[in-house]
Amino acid sequence: MKLKSLKLLLATLTLGLATAFPVANAAGSSVELKDAQVDLDNKLSMARGAKYYANYCMGCHSLKFSRYNRVATDLGLDDESIKSIIFTRDEDDVMSKSGSLMISAIPSKDAANWFGTAPPDLSLVARSRKSGDWIYSYLTSFYKDDSRPFGVNNLVFENVGMPHVLQELQGMQELEVHDDGHGHVTKTLKLAEPGKMSVGEFDQLAKDLTNFLVYVGEPAQLHRTYYGILTLLFLFVFFIVAYLLKKEFWKDIH
Ligand code: HEC
Repeated sequence: MKLKSLKLLLATLTLGLATAFPVANAAGSSVELKDAQVDLDNKLSMARGAKYYANYCMGCHSLKFSRYNRVATDLGLDDESIKSIIFTRDEDDVMSKSGSLMISAIPSKDAANWFGTAPPDLSLVARSRKSGDWIYSYLTSFYKDDSRPFGVNNLVFENVGMPHVLQELQGMQELEVHDDGHGHVTKTLKLAEPGKMSVGEFDQLAKDLTNFLVYVGEPAQLHRTYYGILTLLFLFVFFIVAYLLKKEFWKDIH
């Protein structure tokens, strides 16, 4: 009897937790993510993303599972382009080569002091955050907030420790809060000071970076469809051979 009630208690708890968590999550992130329209067939976009990444992100964030030359081959970058994105140095202060891992130059201990948190390696961020939509929304959701150490906050990552590193390109957004008086609050962002890029250009940049980071999360994605089709073709040919063999073996038996 005791065991039975224990089981019942466990079941109730599990059910309770399972239903409570989605609700808690939904309540925590009142912001809807924007559709990043991730397109892994668009190599030009991913290649642009790789260049932006090297220029604006590698200073702080490593991609410790990626090598420059693998990225170059996958995305169709030529030798000149790949050289132009190598800025980092390894621990012996030797300039990284095209076969080097994409490790950021920043020592993580110093970084933790500067930003409060060390900038995480972004190899798997597209997977840990479940989608490219999160990255795209994050990159486009910085806004002015003078109460924060870097003067910015972020709609999808509250009190983030990262500065708005793309401010020069995007400009600065301001938060507008609308309350309909019935407890329904919507938060939107408005571009207050334009940057060097137009809204459309910056949007494309955020999509390029997102495509690149989704690719980096699982480089094999680019080849998976190709191997899938190859496997199906093989199975088809094998089926014909097997069928002909079967006919040959059984032709005298009736
Ligand atoms: C000056 C250093 C710096 C630069 C440059 C920088 N970041 Fe960050 N980034 C950070 C720090 C620090 C965090 C951790 C923030 C926190 O946890 O509060 C972070 C967090 C992130 C996260 C969230 C990771 C997660 O899942 O928690 C993403 C995504 C990200 N950065 C993307 C980028 C991209 C893309 C670029 C280039 C456009 C970039 N960052 C440039 C410092 C930097």
